[in-house]
Amino acid sequence: SAGLADVKERTLIAVKPDGVQRRLVGQIIRRFEQRGFKLVGLKMLQVSEGLLAQHYCQLTQKPFYSSLVEYMTSGPVVVMVWEGHNVVQSSRVMVGATNPAAAPAGTVRGDFSLHVSRNVVHASDSLEGAQREIQLWFQGKELVEWDCWDQTLTC
Ligand code: TYD
Repeated sequence: SAGLADVKERTLIAVKPDGVQRRLVGQIIRRFEQRGFKLVGLKMLQVSEGLLAQHYCQLTQKPFYSSLVEYMTSGPVVVMVWEGHNVVQSSRVMVGATNPAAAPAGTVRGDFSLHVSRNVVHASDSLEGAQREIQLWFQGKELVEWDCWDQTLTC
């Protein structure tokens, strides 16, 4: 139907180094699965400063950029592509405000984080941003098309 025309919408979600080190990967994945989104890409990597500069190209002149680089390169991240109806905007709501002090309980940042410099997770902030970030972090062949074998069960 017209209302489900954007079921193929995709966004980039990353569990940042503090989230990995605090063993939060499973809980974060669980929230997106439970909501009904579809996981179509997933990998763990140590981020390079070059990739980070492209990812955060609008922030490289900010005073906090060098500490952001130090934080984001302090250990591996788990980066994912999630698909589904309105996934970009819904993910931002599920993740909560950039500053965890402004993130309500029930959001990832509101439940797991205290400070903007350790805010556990990244979520693309727009459709255009999501497309740019997915291309930056993933090769096309790393994204997997799949459907439920038995459509009468859970899909
Ligand atoms: P930004 O893209 O503004 O927020 P979001 O991650 O919610 O899209 O900022 C990117 C990251 O930069 C943010 O998640 C944490 C870090 N950051 C700081 O460390 N200090 C700051 O004052 C801001 C605005 C961001």
